[in-house]
Amino acid sequence: MSQEIENHDDHNESGNRPFSSVMTRYLSRRRMLQGSLGLAAATLFTDFGLGAAIRQAGADPSNRRLVLGFESLPGSMTDAIVVPEGYTAQVLVPWGTSLDGGNTGWQQDIHMTPAFQARAMGMHHDGMYHFPLDTQHASRDFLLAINHEYIDQTALWAPQGGPTNSDEGARPADEVRTEINAHGVAVVRLRRDDQGHWAPVAGDGHNRRITSATPMELAGPVRGTPWVVTAWSPDGTRVRGTNNNCACGHTPWGTYLTCEENWPEVFTNQGELTPDQARLGINGERGRYGWESADDGEQGEFSRFDNTPRGDDPSKDYRNEARSFGYIVEIDPYDAGSAIYKRTALGRFRHEGCWPGRVVEGMPLTFYTGHDSRNEYIYKFVTKKHWQQSDANRPGEAYDRQAIGARYLDEGTLYVARFDADGTGEWLPLSVDAIIPRGEHKGRRLGELFKDQAGIIINTCDAADLMGATPMDRPEWGTVDPHSGMVYMTLTNNSKRTEEDSEASFTGEGNAAAMGSGYATAPVNAANPRPDNTYGHIIRWQESSDDPTRMRWEPFVFGGSASDADSNLSGLTDVNAFASPDGLWFDERDNGEGILWIETDNGLDKGRENAVAEMTNDQVLAVVPGAMSQDGQPAINAQNQAQLKRFAIGPNDAEVTGIFATPDRTALFINIQHPANWPAADTEDATQAAQGQVRPRSSTVVIQKRDGGRIGV
Ligand code: FEO
Ligand code: CA
Ligand code: CA
Repeated sequence: MSQEIENHDDHNESGNRPFSSVMTRYLSRRRMLQGSLGLAAATLFTDFGLGAAIRQAGADPSNRRLVLGFESLPGSMTDAIVVPEGYTAQVLVPWGTSLDGGNTGWQQDIHMTPAFQARAMGMHHDGMYHFPLDTQHASRDFLLAINHEYIDQTALWAPQGGPTNSDEGARPADEVRTEINAHGVAVVRLRRDDQGHWAPVAGDGHNRRITSATPMELAGPVRGTPWVVTAWSPDGTRVRGTNNNCACGHTPWGTYLTCEENWPEVFTNQGELTPDQARLGINGERGRYGWESADDGEQGEFSRFDNTPRGDDPSKDYRNEARSFGYIVEIDPYDAGSAIYKRTALGRFRHEGCWPGRVVEGMPLTFYTGHDSRNEYIYKFVTKKHWQQSDANRPGEAYDRQAIGARYLDEGTLYVARFDADGTGEWLPLSVDAIIPRGEHKGRRLGELFKDQAGIIINTCDAADLMGATPMDRPEWGTVDPHSGMVYMTLTNNSKRTEEDSEASFTGEGNAAAMGSGYATAPVNAANPRPDNTYGHIIRWQESSDDPTRMRWEPFVFGGSASDADSNLSGLTDVNAFASPDGLWFDERDNGEGILWIETDNGLDKGRENAVAEMTNDQVLAVVPGAMSQDGQPAINAQNQAQLKRFAIGPNDAEVTGIFATPDRTALFINIQHPANWPAADTEDATQAAQGQVRPRSSTVVIQKRDGGRIGV
């Protein structure tokens, strides 16, 4: 998300060395290693079990069997989508599409109501995934689970000229209810006909809306603790709603993971901030949309967004309400009546998404997550329980998947990443027995500061500060090559990354509430090597085969523009320049190879007026990754950059996000979020520009070849 609700301010006041200062040093140090320690480095590489990565054809594109079969697109800045020759792009389930069909369809001038919005697609489509109803028809009939990240009040309230009392005064209750219902998640059945046309199945029994008011369960270490006691849930086990659901994940047992990102700003606290509120960016002013200002409904329907202590104790007010947000949330898309669980063991912060690692029978499962704020961290969760194939999804059946989820996701070890300048990295456990390695608490256990795992989870970022994690350039999406286990993650940009010889500044300075010491600004480091990282980059890493705390990493590609030569570390050209990488998906194909799809959220707003934003709208790129080179250079560089191709371009002002393809790879699904004047009113052709101004609607887009072949090749 690039507009309106973005607040990736650095609330990290810790003194950890930032990733971008690490990159400049990293690049020079790697060259030194090549000269004098090459043999040792090669041995270490082998020790890290990288054979699976090397099985890829390597940096020489002539060795690759998988070749991108489309011409890279020149930039585009129009109110329409652009796709390569021979492809189509269809608008599918835009905001306001009724899940029930009937006579209550979308109209350009529809006045949105709480009831209609509660049974229609929400706003601002983001992460999404597909769930087959049976194996045979998985590429033409499945359940789509999709996030509705946030709202555009201008579009939502267009017929009445905008929201009421948006900046001061009481918001009308039904406007607030409508806005709450425009957030969350939708599950909708999609079906393709023999002509290649896709449509939602109106009235299907699986269709479901989950909103920022839907009751759900807390699970894992935080459940039932005093941290989350509220007047509505005096035993601290339940909460209403999931909020600002950005990217997503999925599990091998067939559930959808939706991830709470920019939720702190919907809450307020007029009193003194608690350490976790200060660390995550809750403040005492009006909430983002003033939801707390509405005349209250039953049981604190709106006043729960005001976290000011007002009662005699936490069971009499909503001082703890926000502590039930900031989690990975598990949904069973196959059962519209199933309970929903916030899996608190995976940490509490501004979660971008949650990506499953390689799945191996008899081994623990791993899920990767990132905290999208400036100078925040990358995490992974390793399950205590080892994977049993007998737990795998049985498509289309309704049974208790959440019981399986509880076994894997409620117990395990949460780690945070430190990236070192020699190309290795360490995963630092956030557990009660972890020893703090430095600073004023050096030598103490995390449990001494946070008491128990619930305390660590509520204060995840502070615990990560204390353990010495590497502050990153805003971690957005990750993805895993399911064959090799290689992990990719976008680092979208960071205006608070400073020069190597500068001092880190800390968000907690002078703030008695600060427990860790997150960074306001942080100097460059090996993994984040560019000061004021305008263009962003992508890193990748390979886990050690026998030590869950060790990995090796390298820069994969740097965003940049040919017209900004100093920034252009990957040698990009006008047909593949990009900035602010965000969405990612590794699309496994044949013989262990695959396509890495990259989506961008660069836009023209909020200071992203860089050379890329001046020549193209946001986009989808594709590349067939080679093996890790470990030579200190980005994997995509001036010698091989032509393998990175621009596949699609979005309409003006929109970001492109959310991505998957059908199992047969004949249809690629993406989302267009916050367009300015799209889609055109009377066509499903996403490549058509609107006549005049339309009420803009975020939408899914399905891209297919006219001949029905596999996309990308
Ligand atoms: Fe919602 Fe960090 O993107
Ligand atoms: Ca973004
Ligand atoms: Ca994003």
